[in-house]
Amino acid sequence: MKIAVLPGDGIGTEIVAEAVKVLNALDLSFEMETALVGGAAYDAHGHPLPDATLALAKAADAVLFGAVGDWKYDRLERQFRPEQAILGLRKHLGLFANFRPAICYEQLTHASSLKPELVAGLDILIIRELTGDIYFGQPRGRRTAVDGHFPGAEEAFDTMRYSRPEIERIAHVAFQAARRRNGKVTSVDKANVLETFQFWKDVVTEVHAQYPDVKLDHMYVDNAAMQLVKAPKAFDVVVTGNMFGDILSDEAAMLTGSIGMLPSASLDAHNKGLYEPSHGSAPDIAGQGVANPLATILSAAMMLRYSLQQPEAADRIERAVQAVLSAGLRTGDIWSEGTRKVGTREMGDAVVAA
Ligand code: NAI
Ligand code: MG
Repeated sequence: MKIAVLPGDGIGTEIVAEAVKVLNALDLSFEMETALVGGAAYDAHGHPLPDATLALAKAADAVLFGAVGDWKYDRLERQFRPEQAILGLRKHLGLFANFRPAICYEQLTHASSLKPELVAGLDILIIRELTGDIYFGQPRGRRTAVDGHFPGAEEAFDTMRYSRPEIERIAHVAFQAARRRNGKVTSVDKANVLETFQFWKDVVTEVHAQYPDVKLDHMYVDNAAMQLVKAPKAFDVVVTGNMFGDILSDEAAMLTGSIGMLPSASLDAHNKGLYEPSHGSAPDIAGQGVANPLATILSAAMMLRYSLQQPEAADRIERAVQAVLSAGLRTGDIWSEGTRKVGTREMGDAVVAA
């Protein structure tokens, strides 16, 4: 099991070190190799995604990624910005399915902005398509309008599009994920208004014929946004396009209270993937040893489950995280009265011990 370890910038190096420690504590053997990415790579090699880093990521079975970015790179040309490394990795590794679980741990129920009874036991999975939709559709640009409400006015336009194979592959991923969970998929669209999403709905319905054991519902995105805060536990797997998924996954993330707890995975067609916390490089707390490493540790668990076919090891890590929370250990972002505040390392050590 070959893992490319790309810590990146800011707290990336601190939190990835803890996840590596946890992986090394399992009785499995990994071949882990580390490389620079993001601002760290730009500083050393003049590019946020050097060829050697990309080659390492391509040769690996999975990539464990920290975070990239810092204010000091804000004035660089777009192609040299640290964030370009993520886009480059997604593109070159063919990562099209973004998995964002929203899990509300019983011990942290109070941290949610919703009533505890609405989120207690919450465990849903948002699957966002990552390569298509209005974010990448051509043509796009600015021009002088020749028709519409204001002919002759300056206007801007983007193109929403999805091809059949793009929808089919993400639908398969969603139905297969639901099989491993509670057997229910909600496909989110805007089929009442958009041709692209009527097509999405039709294709998802066709693919569903191959998964008679999974229940499929369709929901309009505006209603889905409401239901996520009204009755989030009614969902199991939610699958949707790039733009709706971007918005709904952030909404779902906040149901659980802390960004420091949320893992994510981006997968290709062969279960190879990139695993990273949902948060960024947190330059405001970098270097202080206070960042929460649990999102990254839980990302490593997802890596074991989805790319390395080691579900028992993934369960062990998730149970260890629960045990540490039950013992009352908290980093600053999840700390509350009556719990014990610990740093990044102490939290990682506690997970290893558990
Ligand atoms: P951020 O997620 O880095 O930080 C937002 C807030 O949450 C900060 O107050 C931070 O201290 C806190 N926080 C984040 N992770 C934490 C953790 N593990 N433990 C404790 N507190 C934590 O988002 P922000 O501030 O908008 O962006 C900072 C930099 O990160 C930017 O350069 C941005 O472009 C980059 N970024 C990178 C991402 C990635 O690598 N995938 C994703 C999001 C942002
Ligand atoms: Mg977003």
